Amino acid sequence: MVAVLFGGQSPEHEVSVISGMQAFAATDTERWNPVPLYLAKDGSWWTGPKLGSVDAFSRTDAFRSLGRRVSVRPAPGGRLVLDPERRSRFSRTALQPVDIVFPVLHGGSGEDGGLQGLCETLGVPYVGSGIIGSAVGMDKDISKLLCRQVGIPVVEHVAIREADWADRENAWLDRCESDLGFPVIVKPARLGSSIGISRASERSGLDRAIEDAFRYDGKVVVERAVPELREVNCSVLGDPVDAVASVLEEPVSSDAVLSFQDKYMKRDAAPGGAKSQRPRGMASLDRLIPAPLDEGETEEIRRLAVRVFRAFECAGVARIDFLREGTTGRVFFNEINTIPGSLSFYLWEPSGVPFPDLVDRLLEIAVRQHHDRTARVRSYAVNLLSERDLRGLKGAKGS
Ligand SMILES: Nc1ncnc2c1ncn2[C@@H]1O[C@H](COP(=O)(O)OP(=O)(O)O)[C@@H](O)[C@H]1O
Ligand SMILES: [Mg+2]
Repeated sequence: MVAVLFGGQSPEHEVSVISGMQAFAATDTERWNPVPLYLAKDGSWWTGPKLGSVDAFSRTDAFRSLGRRVSVRPAPGGRLVLDPERRSRFSRTALQPVDIVFPVLHGGSGEDGGLQGLCETLGVPYVGSGIIGSAVGMDKDISKLLCRQVGIPVVEHVAIREADWADRENAWLDRCESDLGFPVIVKPARLGSSIGISRASERSGLDRAIEDAFRYDGKVVVERAVPELREVNCSVLGDPVDAVASVLEEPVSSDAVLSFQDKYMKRDAAPGGAKSQRPRGMASLDRLIPAPLDEGETEEIRRLAVRVFRAFECAGVARIDFLREGTTGRVFFNEINTIPGSLSFYLWEPSGVPFPDLVDRLLEIAVRQHHDRTARVRSYAVNLLSERDLRGLKGAKGS
């Protein structure tokens, strides 16, 4: 059984619900036996066939009557089981064993390596990037440092921790001004969906923008604003050894900074002109696919995207976002999303990979990655706590 995990305790909860519904619908029932697993905002876990439809979430708390509350716990053999809370004491038939976890969570511990680490500790296969790629990809400061180290162009930036900011505000403002000039973009280091992001054109505005970003995160990134910006995104699918790039997209925004509203809240125009009531998640963003760039530039960005995917040791599907500077034509890495909105299916369809095939590949990669991780020697016959071995250890510490 594949548990399609969505929701989560993150500002991108609703976006994840939409991505989760999409992924669930695209998962082959015969082959994978998908089951929706919803992580509610209060941290409770829910399952049941009715949670595979967005109707369970369009009314507040409808999932509580439509789904079944479960606890998730480890079982022998590298499995998780979903254990219904109101299971009869004598029947164990309602326990549902999970063979693969399919996280479709955006932001928070679902995407930052926390959940991935938990799956590895429990020995359960899971879809997507591992601990390192997820954790590094979540941090805009460390992501840039990694890219810089491997020669991928990034915009100059200054990272500030809240503890270092207090009492030294003027020194930081001087540093930003001299290193970056104006205008700059200020962002919380580990958030997404444009939350807490603003643009500053002078010193007092920068001060305010930094303070504002600290409301969301204890680390803030200030970076040079790219002039005549065009954004170009590319999805990459595979593992660090064998990865391919999708067609490119150019998101088109009504505002200087692509907002949460732009990204997720646009609704479909249904046939006949009436507005559908369902937000379509990342698939709703106004975008040009493929991005209108010449072939040379397109190929260069696709190659860069694969290099980023490898540098972060990603697996599964990721979306890598670039900033293109109109004045110079230079392209910079901006950020990586290791669980991209709508799993980037809208970039794979025009690349010749229908959504159900994308999901098949993700699950196949998950199984392969799990095998690679677990096929190696992981324990030794020696018991270091046995008396004989303890003697050998005496004084070993610090010697
Ligand atoms: N250096 C920059 N120069 C100009 N605009 C930027 C820059 N960085 C971000 N932006 C704008 O802000 C938006 C959100 O920033 P981003 O780093 O993508 O954060 P998020 O994780 O919230 O998507 C981008 O989509 C872009 O429109
Ligand atoms: Mg972004």
